[in-house]
Amino acid sequence: MEQELLRLKQEAEEALAQVAGADQLEAFRVRFLGRKGGVLTGVLRQLGKVAAEDRPRLGQLANDIKQEIETRFEEKKAQLTVAGADTDSGRIDYSLPGRYLPFGKLHPVTQVMEEICSIFEGLGFAVAEGPDVETDYYNFEALNIPKHHPARDMHDTFYVTDSILLRTHTSPMQARIMERQEPPLRYVVPGKVYRCDSDMTHTPMFHQVEGLLVDRRVSFADLKGVLTSFTHKIFERELALRFRPSYFPFTEPSAEVDVACVICGGSGCRVCKRTGWLEILGSGLIDPEVLKMVGYDPDVYSGFAFGLGVERIAMLKYGIDDIRLYYENDLRFLSQF
Ligand code: DAH
Repeated sequence: MEQELLRLKQEAEEALAQVAGADQLEAFRVRFLGRKGGVLTGVLRQLGKVAAEDRPRLGQLANDIKQEIETRFEEKKAQLTVAGADTDSGRIDYSLPGRYLPFGKLHPVTQVMEEICSIFEGLGFAVAEGPDVETDYYNFEALNIPKHHPARDMHDTFYVTDSILLRTHTSPMQARIMERQEPPLRYVVPGKVYRCDSDMTHTPMFHQVEGLLVDRRVSFADLKGVLTSFTHKIFERELALRFRPSYFPFTEPSAEVDVACVICGGSGCRVCKRTGWLEILGSGLIDPEVLKMVGYDPDVYSGFAFGLGVERIAMLKYGIDDIRLYYENDLRFLSQF
């Protein structure tokens, strides 16, 4: 029996060396290790017939050999998997289409915000960012919006404490930038802003890009030139622009800028509220009071500022008619950009 066991071991090793694919490996397993009819199992069954004094030694040997064969079998299986020898058995169909690997993209709002900034960088503006959680001073006070000023009604603000809030616009960075450096300066400030507001054209959080340019002899003509050049670039065509007289406490004179509604072509639809125009930004020449507060001499320096809504611009660019689509995380929407 000892002879038989050793012969079996050698036979198994030789057979395993010949195995070249998954099917052959399985045939090997059935032949040598199979519970029913496997050669090794057969030999182990005969143990009961050998002399009692030989039984422990032979039983030990048989078990050692069984384990050895099982170990070799597992090694071979691992080798075959690594080598991809599975393919030999014809189980892989090379004509099948490849597996789809989903990959992420920047959110359309982020894409447009980056594009806006890069257009202004091309016009010589630097990019700066400021805090979302802002003080009452920078959000209102430094922008010539004192306490109890009716202009504060324009903002439905999320307050953290009496004097700390979520910024309602990116304009607070105007004062922060001017405070820490002297003119000439040209900046754009992209970022999130927050207001208690929610309908088809308003979400409680949205994005703005603030613009700021201060130098000697800056006029409204400079503002118009920069904004016209920007709008033509961002919409990739010469859309009509309208500068509409308006009021902001931190600019004088002030203007709201509209572009012709690209959804209805100017004839009026629910997006442009039947006016044919869509407001994309507020702007103006920086109010002398604001310049004084940061220590600039308004007789020497002048400047312009503007703040634009990124979601609104992206809506126009891509013909999106509901601002809430941006924040529903529906991949059917997001993957189009
Ligand atoms: N901060 C204003 C808003 O959020 C937009 C704005 C208007 C920004 C005029 C400006 C400006 O810089 O000059 O409604």
